[in-house]
Amino acid sequence: MRISVIGCGYLGAVHAASMASLGHDVVGIDVDPDKIARLAAGTAPFYEPGLPELLAEVSGTGRLTFSTDMADAAGAQIHFLCVGTPQKHGEFRADLSYVESAFEDLRPHLAAGDVVAGKSTVPVGTAEDLAARLTGTGASLAWNPEFLREGFAVQDTLHPDRLVYGLPTDDEGVPTAEGDAARALLDEVYATPLSEGTPLVVTDYATAQLVKVAANSFLATKISFINAMAELCEATGADVTRLADAIGYDARIGRRFLNAGLGFGGGCLPKDIRAFMARAGELGVDQALSFLREVDAINMRRRVRMVDLAREVSAGSIVGKRVTVLGAAFKPDSDDVRDSPALSVAAQMQLQGAHVTVTDPQAVENARAKWPDLKYAATALEAAQGADVVVLATEWAEYRDLDPDALGGVVAHRAIVDGRNVLDPKAWRAAGWTYRALGRP
Ligand code: UDX
Repeated sequence: MRISVIGCGYLGAVHAASMASLGHDVVGIDVDPDKIARLAAGTAPFYEPGLPELLAEVSGTGRLTFSTDMADAAGAQIHFLCVGTPQKHGEFRADLSYVESAFEDLRPHLAAGDVVAGKSTVPVGTAEDLAARLTGTGASLAWNPEFLREGFAVQDTLHPDRLVYGLPTDDEGVPTAEGDAARALLDEVYATPLSEGTPLVVTDYATAQLVKVAANSFLATKISFINAMAELCEATGADVTRLADAIGYDARIGRRFLNAGLGFGGGCLPKDIRAFMARAGELGVDQALSFLREVDAINMRRRVRMVDLAREVSAGSIVGKRVTVLGAAFKPDSDDVRDSPALSVAAQMQLQGAHVTVTDPQAVENARAKWPDLKYAATALEAAQGADVVVLATEWAEYRDLDPDALGGVVAHRAIVDGRNVLDPKAWRAAGWTYRALGRP
């Protein structure tokens, strides 16, 4: 099938390459000429495990092309909207300007029978509005949210947990003839994952849009729940990692996404829960989501607590102290620093008078662009030279596996704050380190 993918960021670039690997003819379109040039040359414009291999695999087939010209979307039967919806400056709401401009640029190139499939995370109601604006074009709209995690984006796209189609429906909620036609096209696009037994949920527009933000709200709530327990553990001398293990054995709760620490960040969870609250307010049901305010507040408090712990292990003050921050990305296996808790803590300590050196296996360049005043180093050992305190902020495997003696050999003081609860306190203490963690004694 001929497919266009509009927007080639973390979502779109992976979607385009994955669809080509499934055998479709794909054109990826983006307004950023640099990004398009790199993708056209077969290079991933950001760090995502598996993407370079996937691009190499499909580049020889001629099935994947890239362009900055929306006219090249013409001829595709299905057009995936994959542009970003960041938080609006100074507001909780989502900024829909990229969705708007992509949709308006695409509209003149649509032919009768085409399907526009929205993947961007949008406030509920957006799909209904876009669908109305397709009247007269003969094209129809489907909402097909994505659930990919950075770091696992290729795997999540090729082998998703589930597929969701939001289709045009009649008053009874049954897909219209247009909806059936859109479904047939989507079934053809996803023939391979469907044949592997991927569950499919077919629904109306509103449900499909809500599924995405509901899922992210649940995940954010799960993380903030365990971080709230971490606050209790800190007040009582309990260990939140053991607590998580114990409650996680209950299959109704589950151990995944119960890792207490510095909390969630990134380009999705924080802005999605805020945009969801804003939308609920517009719909007159703000009370339904007022708990998300607390989820957000718990999450942000962890960053403050982390700085306090660094101060505690630095004899009460970080002013003029050398602090090493291990990690800048919002999570391991990513170079994404959007709303990164690690970088937020590093910047806070610098602003409070510490001399901060940050290191990260992949995110140093992105971090430097955002916080040029921080010092950066290529490796943990280089970053920790002469450090008064080391802060583990992103749990990259190479930081989990650090040897306490090797690191101890380069620092000025053996003091470490484990912001992700991934180090073995016994081993670090045995090597003469002062070890502190969020939610552990
Ligand atoms: C998330 C959703 O998982 C994905 O389904 C959605 O499509 C986009 O948003 P992503 O932002 O890539 O994906 O990251 P995710 O793996 O969900 O982690 C989010 C944040 O939560 C990270 O900062 C991570 O460090 C933190 N986290 C995760 C915890 O603090 N504890 C956990 O137990 C799990």
